Amino acid sequence: MSTTRVTTDIDEAVAVLAAGGIVGLPTETVYGLAARVSDEAAVRRVFSAKGRPADHPLIVHVSSLSQALAYGEFDERATALAVRFWPGPVTLLVRRRDTVPLVVTGGRDTVAIRVPAHPMALELIDRIGEGLVAPSANRFGRVSPTDASHVVADLDGLVDLVLDGGRCTVGVESTIVDCTGTLQVLRPGAVTADQIEEAAAAEVGGATGPSRAPGMLASHYAPRCALEAFETAALLSVRLAEAKAMGVAVTSIGPGEGDVSEYSRGLYASMRAADEGGADLILALLPEPTGLGLAVRDRLLKAAAKR
Ligand code: TXA
Ligand code: MG
Repeated sequence: MSTTRVTTDIDEAVAVLAAGGIVGLPTETVYGLAARVSDEAAVRRVFSAKGRPADHPLIVHVSSLSQALAYGEFDERATALAVRFWPGPVTLLVRRRDTVPLVVTGGRDTVAIRVPAHPMALELIDRIGEGLVAPSANRFGRVSPTDASHVVADLDGLVDLVLDGGRCTVGVESTIVDCTGTLQVLRPGAVTADQIEEAAAAEVGGATGPSRAPGMLASHYAPRCALEAFETAALLSVRLAEAKAMGVAVTSIGPGEGDVSEYSRGLYASMRAADEGGADLILALLPEPTGLGLAVRDRLLKAAAKR
């Protein structure tokens, strides 16, 4: 039986957060697990509900650049990126101000901030009057939720309320850009490194790194079953026939006739469905390495990596 309430009523979410609770938050990328930035007890509950190590920092969600300025120090490049991409699927890593408790940043002197492009999230932040921390609302080691029902599936009884804002329109997590030194993309997303470079009028460094963004293990982007990724449909179909002949419970995913944005939107839902349907193996067709396709490829290749 499910114990966590799901609602579309923002008033309820305001009341729960104001009373020190934690709430499933719809955004355009994936659902977050939200607490008020200044509520350290609620922030700690976010870590424990997810089963997330305390040194994996959280993203602060705000409703405007001016609100972001209260939490972090924005140089010219970070400001240009915020102006160009917010609200939207870009998280900016900047120097932390003292308004952000260290529990949020895992003790770091930097803070990750974004303005989500979802009307319910923006209204909720405005009504609360401060930023909301929100990691993806999955249990540690599971794929991100892209629908309110996924949040309940992972965190039933652990989250006080889920605000149902429908299916996420992007489907993969935001692009994280480290603005504290040479610009660096720490996690690819719907906005590409080329777009970042152009908007910031500054070079983006080559190395991307888990070292600078703790907590981006391959398993975060993987289903429980095995996943193999293929560059061409022909290679995939050979493997599919072989797996079927061996009696493997196999399912295949790919962009099909649709465009990559539909693939991205349904990516994590298809991984969850494969797990729930008892699949042993997912065969995934890699999209073209351009635009959003780069982010989808990143998640699929991580999921296909040895665990
Ligand atoms: O699209 C998204 O970004 C979603 C939605 C809910 O906004 N959020 C999300 O949060 O994906 P999470 O916690 O699952 O991933 C955020 C990642 C962390 O794993 C960490 O690698 C990086 O952001 N991060 C956050 N703060 C950081 C900091 N101060 N320094 C380095 N990396 C940081
Ligand atoms: Mg996550």
